[in-house]
Amino acid sequence: MLKNIYTDRFILSSLTKRKEEGRYRELVVSGSGVDFFSNDYLGLARSSTLFERSHQLVKQYSGNFNGATGSRLLSGNSELFEQTEINIAKFHKAESALIFNSGYDANLGFFSTVPQKGDLIFYDEYIHASIRDGIRLSLADAYSFVHNSISSLQTKIQSVSLIKKDFKRIFIVVESIYSMDGDQAPLSALAEFCKEHNYLLITDEAHALGIYGNEGEGLVQSLGIESLFFARIYTYGKALGVHGASICGSTYLKEYLINFCRTFIYSTALSPHAIASIQCAYQQMITSNEERLILKNNAQYYASLLNDTSNIDSPIKSLILSGNKNVKHLANQLQGLGYEVRPILSPTVPENKERLRICLHSYNTQEEIKKLIQHIQEYIV
Ligand SMILES: Cc1ncc(COP(=O)(O)O)c(C=O)c1O
Repeated sequence: MLKNIYTDRFILSSLTKRKEEGRYRELVVSGSGVDFFSNDYLGLARSSTLFERSHQLVKQYSGNFNGATGSRLLSGNSELFEQTEINIAKFHKAESALIFNSGYDANLGFFSTVPQKGDLIFYDEYIHASIRDGIRLSLADAYSFVHNSISSLQTKIQSVSLIKKDFKRIFIVVESIYSMDGDQAPLSALAEFCKEHNYLLITDEAHALGIYGNEGEGLVQSLGIESLFFARIYTYGKALGVHGASICGSTYLKEYLINFCRTFIYSTALSPHAIASIQCAYQQMITSNEERLILKNNAQYYASLLNDTSNIDSPIKSLILSGNKNVKHLANQLQGLGYEVRPILSPTVPENKERLRICLHSYNTQEEIKKLIQHIQEYIV
């Protein structure tokens, strides 16, 4: 192995500290155990039909182009991009959709670009890291409120607006389904609250797309409240089984992002193949009614085995075992028994909220779920 001659004390001591605290992260190649860890809720990432259809579509549109060759504002735009965005906007009942290279890029770009100096952002304390990072890059002032609590949000807005009297706009940010707990934001009540006060509401539908709604359109549309959102973020690396993301909102918002959003402007666009797979994944997701039903049944079955009455329909289940060591140990045991589970450690989640995040899928059998829970119960008792 080539030995690097540079040793940086800060890097070394940070790594040592991480290890001592039991927070050290490392890459592991996924095994072939039962999948209770991926976000491939409907099995689209492993669908050979989707693979073949995307291949056909990309050949039809792009000939032999492997890459986009540049940012969309330079050489990277195409008919395929334009048509896919038209389809996405139509499906999500939005004026427009703009595709980003990932959900991380979409959130980083949106929150660092749209809220301005003099604006206020209020975000749920459990909001995803990509939104937090975008907010950190923004010149707006930002405050968290207690998870899923509209009264906490109200109190925060009241107290902040006493100090920042001349604020311009207020943005409220939530996730439809929280990625670590699988619970839902009170979207209808929030939407009414924001409408009443003229606040701009934004939700990240990453874990709702494909799962909620008759055609998998997400939680917002399943509640019929899409017109009350300033913007919605959809990511394609989860139930859609592919890669990328889009921001749905007004035509002006799209124009604004194309003009000012740095993660959109200064990055090579997604490849034609990635765009074709987004388009084909939407088509397949819409018709995956059977998979959606099995997924819901699996989620309910899991909840019934544990007498768990919270978030019954959610495919994201979390088993909180306080302490990085404890949760790592249980994950290792289960991996040894042939289950692909991963521990979620602090600082990804708050201290004492370390957990096993169990993701259910349409392709998990009830027998697999039952056995997993039996092993967990044997370990915990
Ligand atoms: C709520 C939420 N938003 C955004 C992202 C980022 O999406 P992507 O994986 O496409 O970058 C994730 C992924 O972990 C997520 O859970």
